[in-house]
Amino acid sequence: MNLILLGAPGAGKGTQAEVICAHFGIPAISTGNIIREALRSGTEMGLRAKQYTEAGQLVPDDVVIGIIAERLNQDDCKKGFLLDGFPRTIPQAEALDKMGITIDRVVEIDVPDEEIIQRMSGRRVCEKCGASYHIVNKKPKVEGVCDLCAGTLVQRKDDHPDTVKERLNVYHEKTEPLKDYYLKQNKVFSVDGCGDISEISKQILSALEALI
Ligand code: AP5
Repeated sequence: MNLILLGAPGAGKGTQAEVICAHFGIPAISTGNIIREALRSGTEMGLRAKQYTEAGQLVPDDVVIGIIAERLNQDDCKKGFLLDGFPRTIPQAEALDKMGITIDRVVEIDVPDEEIIQRMSGRRVCEKCGASYHIVNKKPKVEGVCDLCAGTLVQRKDDHPDTVKERLNVYHEKTEPLKDYYLKQNKVFSVDGCGDISEISKQILSALEALI
């Protein structure tokens, strides 16, 4: 099962990716997480990406396409995978097609901009493993501590309200056209991303179960 999660920054892609991947036993591939890990490790790719992510801009296509091509070649992707945050531009979607990768379903999580801006101010992420929480909607068991690895929970630099607004502009201009790209292929399942997290998961899982 090869899946794509599409949605604005903060729509809940990472949150739902955890549930979907645990359910189907497939890896979640988040270009955002890969880039943040490269930033933490200070690799050449991380240094190149820094200026873009911190400004809320997209990292150049050639960089992320390279990351994805390498990741999808790994053994754990043979039985399927979920892409979270890729593709984000039409050239990135075309690059996937050129790699000969067939996408079975594109799950679009739909959330209005006003809700996104409010949500992002409450997001906290683990600085060690990248797991995502919310100070109201998805609290960790112990405040400020990751349930999974006991790492410290921090606010992402790009969750500052001005940067979030810029990320939303970029989303509407460059990423939203992907919905039409995949609608033409009859692959899109859209879900309302406002409301209870587990209810949204249920809707997504039952739509994906129908594929098996
Ligand atoms: P990336 O990390 O992919 O960020 P994003 O797409 O902007 O998405 P987020 O991770 O911010 O949000 P999400 O949808 O996963 O939401 P989450 O589940 O955390 O990318 C970061 C940067 O890397 C980009 O800006 C770009 O520079 C670069 N990049 C990455 N991929 C790239 C690519 N392909 N090309 C070029 N550049 C690329 O949820 C958000 C919060 O809301 C959490 O606190 C969560 O607990 C809460 N929440 C979730 N669901 C609900 C709900 N239903 N109700 C209430 N709260 C909820």
